[in-house]
Amino acid sequence: MIVLLPGDGIGAEVVGAARRVLDAVAPDLAYETHAIGGAAIDEGGDPLPPRTLEACLGADAVILGAVGGPKWSDPRAAVRPEQGLLRLRSALGVYANLRPVRVIEALAARSPLRPERVAGVDFLVVRELTGGIYFGSPRGRDTESGEVRAFDTMSYSRTEIARVVELACRFAEGRRRKVTSVDKANVLESSRLWRETAEEVCAEHPEVTLEHQLVDSCAMRLLTHAREFDVIVTSNLFGDILTDEAAALTGSLGVLPSASVGDGTRGLYEPIHGSAPDIAGKGIANPVGTIASAALMLRHSLDRPDAAAAIEAAIERALGAGALTTELGGDLGTEAMTDRILDALA
Ligand code: NAD
Ligand code: IPM
Ligand code: MN
Repeated sequence: MIVLLPGDGIGAEVVGAARRVLDAVAPDLAYETHAIGGAAIDEGGDPLPPRTLEACLGADAVILGAVGGPKWSDPRAAVRPEQGLLRLRSALGVYANLRPVRVIEALAARSPLRPERVAGVDFLVVRELTGGIYFGSPRGRDTESGEVRAFDTMSYSRTEIARVVELACRFAEGRRRKVTSVDKANVLESSRLWRETAEEVCAEHPEVTLEHQLVDSCAMRLLTHAREFDVIVTSNLFGDILTDEAAALTGSLGVLPSASVGDGTRGLYEPIHGSAPDIAGKGIANPVGTIASAALMLRHSLDRPDAAAAIEAAIERALGAGALTTELGGDLGTEAMTDRILDALA
């Protein structure tokens, strides 16, 4: 069983599109739809209601649209939509967030960067997802210094680092055998443990070449030499930021998928973009990121690599034939773009 969590903003639009494509390639799959995020707060005050969590824990895979939006973004709010997503990732034990970044030929001309800089870009970001500053304690506020102070804690255990680096090495072995570990070891103690652990783990994978890079210069190299990357492994916050930057290589945040995985086969699949409040309800959201996430689900959680490859090929064919949504300079809405992908499947 697959749980669909449309969530907020454009979430329902893009998850609906992914469902149409899934119905075409795997009509036998069974679904349940549940509430998460702001929609769930409005219903019962909890961004991850117990029934939603229970369904996700019992599912083979979960597809999520997005959570959050201006309605729930008051900095003083006690409950936030994003807390529901973080709790879900943690409860599912999906400690690695895989974010493949590929610039296909048809998109190279849409990038804000020169096409010759981005053509052929093909790397995988393995973002640690259930630790780091997103989950560290203590966090909160105090007034001990005589004024209000707020604090978060960035902390990593060796185990948390080792398991995600191990996964990155295994992916690299099936690719171009290069891992770039990204940290801020010149300043942060948690990054120094990250670097040390990455060395130890990669030493067990002699075919893999490991390089370290500081996150600030990595942000620049993504714009100047993105083709040099094969697998990037990094912490929760750095991975979040670098992948939105990487999305710009393709010309749109709307096309990048992600798979969040742990030790078993169950996974959480979501586009990397958010609820896009500025375009929500207009029927113009790019569905490609979510449809490509559904393909990752077919491969990683459902062991249907052929169906996954069929979707990926159809996306590439549709984009290659000039099917583009408005943020990429085309004129297609969500439905029409999905139609073009369905046509390309046939
Ligand atoms: P965003 O990703 O929602 O939007 C950034 C920009 O990209 C906007 O201009 C938007 O219109 C555009 N965009 C995003 N997805 C698109 C798509 N599929 N097609 C076309 N254009 C698209 O980021 P934001 O505005 O900073 O955040 C809005 C809300 O989304 C916040 O509450 C944030 O917490 C939440 N968010 C949720 C997730 C998630 O649920 N996984 C991820 C990121 C942000
Ligand atoms: C993402 C989002 C989330 C994150 C937010 C909504 C909690 O930005 O999935 O990239 O930071 O992980
Ligand atoms: Mn993000």
